[in-house]
Amino acid sequence: MTTKIHVCVAWPYAAGDRHIGHLAGAYLPPDIFARYHRLAGNQVLMVSGSDTHGTPITLRADQEGVSPAQVVERYHTRFVEGFLRFGLTFDLYTHTDTQNHWDVTHDLFLRHRERGYIYSAVQQQLYSVDDQRWLPDRYVEGTCPFCGFDRARGDQCDNCGRTYDAVELKNPRSKISGSANIEKRPTEHFFLDLSKANDFLIDWLNRPDKADWRPNVLNFARAQVESRELRGRPITRDLDWGITIPVPGYDDKRIYVWYDAVIGYLSATKEWALISGQPDAWQEWWQEGGAVESFYFIGKDNIPFHAIIWPAMLHAYGPVPGHDWRLKLPSDVPANEYLTLGDFKFSSSYGNVISINEAAERYQVDAWRYALTAMAPESQDSEFTWQEFVRRVNTELVANWGNLVNRVLGFAYKQFEGRVPQPGPLDAADQALLAAVQAGFDSVGALYAARKFKAALDAALRLSQEVNRYINDKAPWQQIKSDRAAAATSVYVVLQAIDWLKLFFAPVLPFSSQLVHDYLGYDSRLFGRQYTEVVADARGQHLALRYDGREAAGRWQAETLPPGQALRKPEALFIKLDDSVVEQELARMGVK
Ligand code: MF3
Ligand code: ZN
Repeated sequence: MTTKIHVCVAWPYAAGDRHIGHLAGAYLPPDIFARYHRLAGNQVLMVSGSDTHGTPITLRADQEGVSPAQVVERYHTRFVEGFLRFGLTFDLYTHTDTQNHWDVTHDLFLRHRERGYIYSAVQQQLYSVDDQRWLPDRYVEGTCPFCGFDRARGDQCDNCGRTYDAVELKNPRSKISGSANIEKRPTEHFFLDLSKANDFLIDWLNRPDKADWRPNVLNFARAQVESRELRGRPITRDLDWGITIPVPGYDDKRIYVWYDAVIGYLSATKEWALISGQPDAWQEWWQEGGAVESFYFIGKDNIPFHAIIWPAMLHAYGPVPGHDWRLKLPSDVPANEYLTLGDFKFSSSYGNVISINEAAERYQVDAWRYALTAMAPESQDSEFTWQEFVRRVNTELVANWGNLVNRVLGFAYKQFEGRVPQPGPLDAADQALLAAVQAGFDSVGALYAARKFKAALDAALRLSQEVNRYINDKAPWQQIKSDRAAAATSVYVVLQAIDWLKLFFAPVLPFSSQLVHDYLGYDSRLFGRQYTEVVADARGQHLALRYDGREAAGRWQAETLPPGQALRKPEALFIKLDDSVVEQELARMGVK
């Protein structure tokens, strides 16, 4: 029976380029996971979009003297292009300024309110006398009330990851003018009453199915709910950019970006269903207790929103009207730590890091996908260095897997009339090698399924290394001089191994695995087709990234490579990097 795998990817703010740290942390892992599951024959739905609201967008617009809508348009288009180049197979990559998303957000807001999870109250908020405006979220900086970090923002601390209210900041100053002439003034807002979900969250985070969650995620979330510090959080702001409040009398306020953005996972599924012409198809992906598992791929700063607040919002929604089921809670939230550059976190505020769009132009996408997966910060912060990038590409990807494919395919093409040779009887070494590689369908597959992508890649590389050893022992380039049949058998065995290995690498290296597939003489596409589409609704039209993955279904099996199949003339899979890359890149980043 196939399972439904719902792959939910963090929604990037459309306020600045995404860089390779984001790719390693939040965007490549879900794509690897989605591709593996499609090959394994499961149904996958991978959704995300640009996060178009909140102060990251308005601050950027203010700085540039353009409208928030213009900022959103520019970065959304950049993201779609960059993600397309990196081969990220979103079934739908949309954004949050669609009519559908507004409608779904209003629906949740009204239902949360009806069920007593949203209330309104007057609170104190920060007001800058010099700037003559409110200072929500990123408009203010100060000292974190929890850890003392002195550049903490109004809603979340970049150092300890905790969330709080801006009024709790010590020594607040305006991000616009730098002014510390800040008053607390009363203003009415709506609050999401998280305290009402506290018991539920304690129970949920202690269920046995949490055993395979990453410790960083589980410990952070449990500590907060078990200390019972959850309370009402304001989910509206004194801003004029964002989703309106669906209650009369609040025209000058908007919904807080973090309330609407997480709803994107649900609204994008609904949008996908609408575009697909089956408006009810979203339901199969959101039924608690159904055949679906849902996975949220994010960076660690997003943990509170996905492991506490979003589950609380889903719980608070209650049974879906007209049905007897509830909305599906996350099966897992495999958050990554940070990929750092020198002493800096790869944060968009350090302008000199490489954007994903530039990255795709300068080096092979699969080389990036390889190196960033190998270096991924799965359990701790990791450091990206250009030396390490070059080393990984040259001594691992090129020397091991690339080399194996190049020399054996080249030899077979030249020596056996461009066809897969007919093997003779297999000896013990031939059989042992094929059995070892074939076992990878289970062992490598299990690692991908467990979100252990570094380990999966490592296991695939070790199998490739075994094949290298086998071919060095057999040395068909010697065998062929005296015993052509023996050489044919050795080459066949290796081509068969490569045909399976290409699948083990395919979730990480989709482009080069497709090339191997082509060289081996197949005519199909391993994964199907990615494309962009213009989608229109009542709020306007937007560019969306789409994917049709039907061709991928069920390829994760040890099929027999047909002897006699016509090969295609192979070319080198990967480009070996010159050592000068390191200096060039450091110079470009302004590091001497
Ligand atoms: N826009 C946020 C960021 O870039 C992430 C939002 S994820 C979602 O950090 F859950 F809100 F969708
Ligand atoms: Zn802090």
